Amino acid sequence: MKTKIINTPDLLKAASRKKEATNFCVAHSVHLDDLKKLVNGKKYYIRTYGCQANVRDEETMRAMLEDVGYTYSDDLENVDLIIINTCAVRENAEDKVYGEIGNLKRLRRKNKNLILSICGCMVEQPEILKRVMNTFPEVNLLFGTHEIAQLLDLVYECLTTGERIVSIESKQGEVVEFKNDCRNNHYKAYVNIIYGCNKFCTYCIVPYTRGKERSRKFQDVLDECKSLVEAGYQEITLLGQNVNAYGKDLDEGYDFADLMEAVAKLGIPRLRFTTSHPWDFSSKMIEIIAKYDNIMKFIHLPVQSGNDEILRKMGRRYTREQYLNLVKEMREKIPGLSLSTDIIVGFPNETEEQFQDTCSLVDIVKYEAAFTFIYSPRRGTPAAKMEDNVDKDTKVRRFKELVSHLEKHIEEHSNSMVGKTYPVLVDGVSKTDENMLSGYTEENKLVHFKGDISLVGSIVNVKISESHTYSMIGEIVNG
Ligand code: SAH
Ligand code: SF4
Ligand code: F3S
Repeated sequence: MKTKIINTPDLLKAASRKKEATNFCVAHSVHLDDLKKLVNGKKYYIRTYGCQANVRDEETMRAMLEDVGYTYSDDLENVDLIIINTCAVRENAEDKVYGEIGNLKRLRRKNKNLILSICGCMVEQPEILKRVMNTFPEVNLLFGTHEIAQLLDLVYECLTTGERIVSIESKQGEVVEFKNDCRNNHYKAYVNIIYGCNKFCTYCIVPYTRGKERSRKFQDVLDECKSLVEAGYQEITLLGQNVNAYGKDLDEGYDFADLMEAVAKLGIPRLRFTTSHPWDFSSKMIEIIAKYDNIMKFIHLPVQSGNDEILRKMGRRYTREQYLNLVKEMREKIPGLSLSTDIIVGFPNETEEQFQDTCSLVDIVKYEAAFTFIYSPRRGTPAAKMEDNVDKDTKVRRFKELVSHLEKHIEEHSNSMVGKTYPVLVDGVSKTDENMLSGYTEENKLVHFKGDISLVGSIVNVKISESHTYSMIGEIVNG
């Protein structure tokens, strides 16, 4: 099979941050009408790994594909297009994808017309792209995070030439508005407000795979949120790698606090946002969160480490003291606040003492939820070049110790919920017990309870009867 290379990624280009103005545009396909004729009843399947940015990208791709006549099917033996939307944040995220391509490649041997596509953050890395291209000749469409808007033209090219198409350009990135919409959920929605990341934490690949920080226009975000409220959505989550940076790259005069307030005023029952970098979390943001009942009192505030030297080597831009002061201000000004975090264990050369600083910070903050990771070197990042004298067993032992610190506080918090009543947005049938429904409290705690399936998508009051640390059992009460 011939390969047509339109663009390949370049980490140096990906890391540059030019001060050029962002290009704002609307997605359009050159081959829309021809593609509609070609598609004619074809089926597609998408599998997404990674963060909410990828989940939202999946929805965007689904909308585009369905606009030209593709219908979704998970009967993989009989689909015409398979897209694997990948994540590169840790090695295990990538390993899962290699396993998945290994399983899928036989489908292409069976059906020569199948388009087997890999997109997303993984292939934004030159070494990985090379490995995928060499190991899996069956994969015949590869595109990056900046080419989502060109999906239809790339599919057209694949269908009409029969060639393998590679289009992954490392660029600063533009802001593309999409005309069609498709949502995986009909009462909870993700809304992008800012793309990319300029923070360059030394361990992280995201700024290379997603390009520079660039905000959507204030009115575009508001229009999208308004249409969600009108469609009866119960919850909106404003999305960005760092939502606090919203607006700094625009000359519209709005910051994230202004945007949050404007969306809250639209009357969405639940407003969330993720992720916030502690470095530029402003007092104005804290005031707005406290002021509006429909802004959920739940903040994901990744700390990564509780030791100043490690924070400095990670390039996190705050000290332990600054982080703790921020938490203090939040807890004082936002009653009932729940805090969650991300922590990395085993950053290169982390000493036992430095690790213990993280445990002690956890004991001070008493997070209500947390995600913990063992450091995974990402080729091309500064941390991947650092020598590391900490062995795997030590990292695993520290990881377990950290989790037990976190769990102690999460359990205490969960136990304190027993006997109290919380509004819960009903998500669906519980994944662990098909006789139960499940949903989330305003503080993002998972609750299982008995109820009629017709309640999905509505907010009910649930009295908590039992705590299982990470999830709760309860029953619906009136009022
Ligand atoms: N923009 C968000 C999300 C980044 S990725 C933020 O800054 O919080 C989500 C989490 O993955 C990070 O918070 C970090 O804890 C973890 N992570 C990122 N790179 C990693 C690496 N190389 N090894 C282990 N964990 C990593
Ligand atoms: Fe990665 Fe840091 Fe940006 Fe988060 S803020 S995406 S951890 S570089
Ligand atoms: Fe993964 Fe890319 Fe998100 S690396 S965490 S899918 S931005």
